[in-house]
Amino acid sequence: MVGTAIRRVTTPAGDFAWLVTNYDDVKALLSDPRVDLSHAAPERAARVSRSAFGGPMGDPTELAAQVPMRRLVASAFSARRMASLRPRVREMITGSLDAMADHAQPVDLHEAVSFPLPALVICELLGVPYADREDFRRWSDDAVNTIDTARSQAGLTRLRVYMRTLVERKKSHPDDDLISDLAAVATADPELTVDDIVMFSVVLLLAGYETTMAAIDRGMILLLTRPEQADALRHDPELVAPAVEEILRKLLPTPASGAEQTIGLPRYANTDFTFDGVTIHTGELAMLGLRVANLDEKLFPEPTRFDVHRGCNPHLTFGHGPHFCPGASLARIELRTLFSALLDRFPTLRLAVPVESLRGRDELLTGGLVAELPVMW
Ligand code: HEM
Repeated sequence: MVGTAIRRVTTPAGDFAWLVTNYDDVKALLSDPRVDLSHAAPERAARVSRSAFGGPMGDPTELAAQVPMRRLVASAFSARRMASLRPRVREMITGSLDAMADHAQPVDLHEAVSFPLPALVICELLGVPYADREDFRRWSDDAVNTIDTARSQAGLTRLRVYMRTLVERKKSHPDDDLISDLAAVATADPELTVDDIVMFSVVLLLAGYETTMAAIDRGMILLLTRPEQADALRHDPELVAPAVEEILRKLLPTPASGAEQTIGLPRYANTDFTFDGVTIHTGELAMLGLRVANLDEKLFPEPTRFDVHRGCNPHLTFGHGPHFCPGASLARIELRTLFSALLDRFPTLRLAVPVESLRGRDELLTGGLVAELPVMW
C-alpha cells in the first residue's frame, strides 16, 4: 500500500523526489541512518533547486571528514556558552534600537535590525570583520539564489575566496574566535584540508545570519499584524519564550500554490528501504517538509492559529537528530532578547504599510524573506 503521507514530486530543479510531510515521518527520517546529506555520486544526484546548495553535501567520505568540525562547533555553541553571550547580545540590540529611535520615521526594520543584529553576532563569534558586511551580504544573497545557478555559483565562489584569505590569516595569526579554532583543528587533523574549513566557515556565516534575519522579519510581521498578541507579550514578559517558539513554528510561510516541495530538508537514501509502504531506492532524494509537519493537528491544536500562549511546541524548525541546528540556542537568545526589547522600547510599534504590500523574496533559499519592513511608532 502506498502511504498517503509520502508522495512523488518534481523539484523546482526538475528532478524526482519523495515529499514527506507527516510530522512523525519527518522526525523519524531526520534521525534515520538510512538517509543522509551526502550522495555516493554527487554530480548525478537529484537536486532540490538550482542553488549551489541545492544538491548533496558531497560524497559520504567528505561528510565524514566534517565530523571533527561539527563537534567543535557543537561545543562552541553549547547552550551554556551561548547564555554567557546574552549581555553582549543585549548591548548590540540596545545599539541597534538607539540608532532606530534617532532615525526619521518610517524606519525599515529589515535594514535597521533584522540584518545588522544577526550579522554582528555571527561576525564576532566567527571572527569575520563586520566592516566587510556589504560584500559578504551581496555574495551570500547570490549564493542562496535558488533560480539562477550561475549567479549562485559565482556568489559561493566569491565567499570561498574571501573566507580562504581569512582562514589562512587566522591559521598563522590566531585570534580568540571560532574560525581560528577551526583552523587549528585542520592543522592538527591530516584528514582535513583548508578547503574543508573554508567551506564549513562559509556555511556557518550563511546559516548564522540568513535564517535568524528571516525569523526576525517573520516574527515582527506575525506580531504587528496581531496587536492583541503583541500586547499580551508586553504585559507578560514571560511569554517571550513561547512566543519565539510559535514564531519559529510558523517561520516558513505558505509557498505559492504547488511549490510545497521547495520547502524541506533534503536527504539521500544510502540503501534501499521501505518507509510508510513506499520503497525508497539508494540515491533517491527525500524532501522532509518541515512547514507542513509544523502544522500537524495531533501536536498543534488549531495549527494555523498563531498563538503566543501555545504551551507545548515541539516544532521541527531547527531540524532533529544528528544535524540538529547547532545555532539554535544562539538564535533563541537573539530572538527573545530582541522581541522583548523592541516591544518594550516602542510600545506603539506598527507596520507603516499594508501587510499585503510587503515584497517577499521567494527566490532565496531562506524563502519568503522580506526586502523591506517599514515600521513606525
Ligand atoms: C532562526 C534561526 C535558524 C534556523 C531556523 C535554523 C535552522 C536549521 C536547520 C533546520 C538545520 C538542519 C539542517 C538539516 O538537518 O539538513 C540547521 C543546521 C545548521 N545550522 Fe541552523 N538555523 C538557525 C540559526 C543558526 C545559527 C544562528 C547558526 C550559527 C552559526 C546556525 C548554524 C547551523 C549549522 C552549522 C548547521 C549544520 C549542522 C549540521 O549539518 O550538522 N543556524 N539549521
